[in-house]
Amino acid sequence: MNDLVGQISDYFNDEAPQHVRDLIEDSRKKEMLDPSYPYEHRMDRDEYDETLEALQIELVKMQDWVIRTGARVVVIFEGRDAAGKGGTISRVRANLNPRVVKTVALPKPNPTEAGEWYFQRYIKHLPSSGNITLFDRSWYNRGVVEHVFGFCTPEQREHWFTQVPNLERMLVNDGVHLIKIWLNVGRAEQLRRFLEREEDPLKHWKLSEIDVKGLSKWDAYTDAITETLTRTHTDVAPWTVVRSEDKRRARIGAIRHILSRLPCDLADKAAVGTPDEQIVGGPDLILR
Ligand code: ADP
Ligand code: AMP
Ligand code: MLT
Ligand code: MLT
Repeated sequence: MNDLVGQISDYFNDEAPQHVRDLIEDSRKKEMLDPSYPYEHRMDRDEYDETLEALQIELVKMQDWVIRTGARVVVIFEGRDAAGKGGTISRVRANLNPRVVKTVALPKPNPTEAGEWYFQRYIKHLPSSGNITLFDRSWYNRGVVEHVFGFCTPEQREHWFTQVPNLERMLVNDGVHLIKIWLNVGRAEQLRRFLEREEDPLKHWKLSEIDVKGLSKWDAYTDAITETLTRTHTDVAPWTVVRSEDKRRARIGAIRHILSRLPCDLADKAAVGTPDEQIVGGPDLILR
């Protein structure tokens, strides 16, 4: 049993700001999403299932294109805890070949890795021709979680800021298709998801010390995220923000974005569609 279970409810009852509690209680009563979210309700289940299936067919075609042309594809999934990275990745891979698509979710660096060039352990997992790597968290840890928790020094982070755009430019210049997705979740929805993890034994493993300690660091996260997105949003490697209060719209939006970014010749443009601009956009979607 995860001994963190209970600590989220304690935070909710004792410390959570009143407006966050009100939002959660409101959304429980009315099944509504956060008032700042562009839709009142989640996407309808049948519409979600149908759209997702059509997009998964396009993902299979995309996989054929990757294999045939020897393309190398990297998709970085980032976002706060409980933003929905894991769930989105699992929908992307659901019907793909595990030999072609690899998910990389690295734990905290071990002592050997901590002594290496920061990017070294991630570089090992970059795809060879005909392969796709999905990063569930990435080198962006240094910009956000490592900074918020003091796992790196301000100097290390500044140095990292000078290296990221260069590294990404080198990858793209070498022909790697690099897509960076930031899943964005509001404070009330995040807390609601943590509370749900506590209630569901199948989700206890997802609760981490970082999640619990991070509850009181919302604003520090916001600052770190704002700075990171601003300073690493480049022409060759732009960020795409996906609003993820509604997981269904978020998954559809992320997959549409991936498909529309790749020059995949078999794609049925009508089936791919265009991402909903209220859900998928640049950093300005959240940095206002
Ligand atoms: P996740 O949200 O990916 O399930 P956690 O919430 O436990 O995992 O941690 C968030 C991120 O912070 C992870 O990528 C983890 O590797 C990183 N992290 C945790 N502890 C440290 C540490 N001491 N130094 C560097 N990174 C760390
Ligand atoms: P999942 O990632 O699919 O396991 O969903 C996690 C939890 O989020 C679910 O158990 C729901 O209570 C909640 N949830 C379900 N659907 C949505 C949705 N469309 N948007 C936001 N949260 C949802
Ligand atoms: C997510 O939902 O973003 C992932 O499961 C990671 C997490 O929340 O810790
Ligand atoms: C699913 O259909 O797999 C998800 O539960 C969708 C959702 O989270 O609403």
